[in-house]
Amino acid sequence: MSESPGAGTRQGFGMRRNGSPVDLQEAPAAEPLPADARVDLAKERADSQVDSVLEALDAELVGLAPVKTRIREIAALLLVDRVRARFGIDSGRPNLHMCFTGSPGTGKTSVAVRLAELLHRLGYIRRGHLVSVTRDDLVGQYVGHTAPKTKEVLKRAMGGVLFIDEAYYLYRAENERDYGQEAIEILLQVMENQRDDLVVVLAGYKDRMDSFFASNPGMSSRIAHHIDFPDYEPAELEAIGRLMMDREGYTLAPETEPVFREYLDRRRARPRFANARSVRNAIERARLRHANRLLAHPGEVDREALTTLHPEDFLTSRVFKEAT
Ligand SMILES: Nc1ncnc2c1ncn2[C@@H]1O[C@H](COP(=O)(O)OP(=O)(O)O)[C@@H](O)[C@H]1O
Ligand SMILES: [Mg+2]
Repeated sequence: MSESPGAGTRQGFGMRRNGSPVDLQEAPAAEPLPADARVDLAKERADSQVDSVLEALDAELVGLAPVKTRIREIAALLLVDRVRARFGIDSGRPNLHMCFTGSPGTGKTSVAVRLAELLHRLGYIRRGHLVSVTRDDLVGQYVGHTAPKTKEVLKRAMGGVLFIDEAYYLYRAENERDYGQEAIEILLQVMENQRDDLVVVLAGYKDRMDSFFASNPGMSSRIAHHIDFPDYEPAELEAIGRLMMDREGYTLAPETEPVFREYLDRRRARPRFANARSVRNAIERARLRHANRLLAHPGEVDREALTTLHPEDFLTSRVFKEAT
């Protein structure tokens, strides 16, 4: 189980520019605004500081246009709900439990972290942290172990987002006495009754998630948003790689560019390709080779040498040794 820091501690966003924590739990005005009052939506939006999260989503994640659109739509809904509440209009709290489908490395966790931050800024959740779990964190091995495990996880996730990766492993069709069923039932209850304090995101491959929902209609009916994360196109993988290198202070020498593209093409065709995660791993290994290349002939180095990846930093990879 992993936990991302709550809003206010994550680097890059979560803090006001002046460093003071964001207070979103301000009590609503006791008196509703009069019916003829006017509220400046642009100012509301600026005050919520939601734009910096949306901008980070845009700048830090390549592609994913439909995903980003949906997140913006949800942000708009919550912002308008807040303003409606000031007029005393009660819209009821929208259901925001979600399902993120897609292959590994398509950005599901990354988007969930930003979603948590966004929901916190808009006052939808108290804390804005993300607790990421799999079946093993929820389900015990013995009778009586599952309920306390699941409840412990839920306790940690309260006020934030609970991200259940490969959620379909909770359900084993071939074994109706599987303890996973117990975890599902507890989750269902909490998703219904504590919707005001927790958002659940189920994640995993689309086909498996579809059959999970087919066998668990109760779960399906509690999910309001189904968001699909497609595999990245070659040009997107390249852009993701450039973004990662840029952030880490590396560039490709001009003659490395075609090699990097070739690397990605070959890697994509190999087993266990994991989209952006494979790009990240490729860059990690290139960094390793780069450092070892420099130290193989230790001498004076300049900034350029320290930041530039050469063709051999990729060419020595296994993907160039085996036929694709
Ligand atoms: N669209 C993207 N742009 C930039 N980096 C991305 C993108 N999608 C994923 N990544 C990076 O790839 C890695 C794996 O992404 P992650 O969100 O964990 O994928 P998933 O949860 O779908 O397996 C992370 O380091 C993440 O920052
Ligand atoms: Mg993930």
